Amino acid sequence: MRGLSEAYGRLGVVRKIHVIGIGAGDPDQLTLQAVKALKSTDVFFILDKGEVKSDLTRLRRDLLDVHRPEGTYRLVEARDPERDRAAGGAAYSPAVGDWRSARAGIYERLIAEELGENESGAFLVWGDPALYDSTLGILEEVQDRGAVTFSYDVIPGISSVSALVSRHRTGLNRVARPVQITTGRRLAEGFPEGVDDVVVMLDAHQAFRRYADQDIDIYWGAYIGTPDEILVSGPLAETAEHIARVRAEARERKGWIMDTYLLRRHPQGRGGAAE
Ligand SMILES: C[S@@+](CC[C@H](N)C(=O)[O-])C[C@H]1O[C@@H](n2cnc3c(N)ncnc32)[C@H](O)[C@@H]1O
Repeated sequence: MRGLSEAYGRLGVVRKIHVIGIGAGDPDQLTLQAVKALKSTDVFFILDKGEVKSDLTRLRRDLLDVHRPEGTYRLVEARDPERDRAAGGAAYSPAVGDWRSARAGIYERLIAEELGENESGAFLVWGDPALYDSTLGILEEVQDRGAVTFSYDVIPGISSVSALVSRHRTGLNRVARPVQITTGRRLAEGFPEGVDDVVVMLDAHQAFRRYADQDIDIYWGAYIGTPDEILVSGPLAETAEHIARVRAEARERKGWIMDTYLLRRHPQGRGGAAE
C-alpha cells in the first residue's frame, strides 16, 4: 500500500470530488446547486451496472448534454462489479462488504489515474447520495486506504422518496407521527414496530402483498419522474394484486424496474392530515 501511496499522493496536490445527487429520474429536478457543481467539473465518472441499467447511464449522459457543451469535459465510464445478490440472511452483510471493497479499488484507480492534479471530478448519484447509496461509504473507504489524496463535498438531490410523495400529492408523515424508510427485505420480515407510515425501497419481491389483509393504504410509483412513470394508490386490499401485475408487465417490457412505495396503516381507523 505504501508504494501506491507514494505513486498517488503527492504533497500539495488536492483533487476535488463532487458527489452530486441528480434526482430520481426527472431532469428538471436537478437543483441549481447541482448544476453549479456540474459546471465546475472536469471529469465525470459513471459506473455502469451492465446492460439492464444502461438506461440509467443514458439518463446521466442526457443530463450532461443539457448542461455542458460537448468537448468541455471528460467522461470516464467503468464497470461496476456485480454484487452477490443471492447471499441472504447472515451472508448479506459480508456480500455487501466485499462488493464495496471491490468498488473502492475501482474508485481509487479512477481518481488517481483519470483525475489530473488540481482537477475536479464528479460522481453523479441517482436521487440523493444520502439514501441507500454506497458512494459516500466507498469514498470514505478510499480515503482511509490513504493511497490517493482528495477532498469531496456532497450535493443533495431529490430522492425517489420525495418524488414519490409529491407525485401522489401526499405527505410522508401524519401529524406529529414518525415515518420509517426501509427495504423490501426488511418489510418481508414484519411490519416495523412503533410506526404506521413506512416507505419501502429496493423491493424485488412485492413484500406489500403480505399485508393486504390489513387496513393499509399504498402509494406506489415506478420509474417516477421518467416518461415511463406509473403511479397507483388506494387500499392495499384492493390494489396489491393489481400493482404486482402492473409491475411484472412493466419489468418484462423494459427489462428492469425501480419502484418505491409508502404504506400508510390505519390501526385506529382513518383520519389525520400530514404535518
Ligand atoms: C439503490 S437505491 C437508490 C436510492 C436513491 N439514492 C434515492 O435517493 O432515491 C434504488 C432504489 O431507489 C428507488 N428508486 C430510485 N429511483 C426511482 C424512481 N425513479 N422511481 C421509483 N423508485 C425509484 C427504488 O426503490 C430503487 O430500488
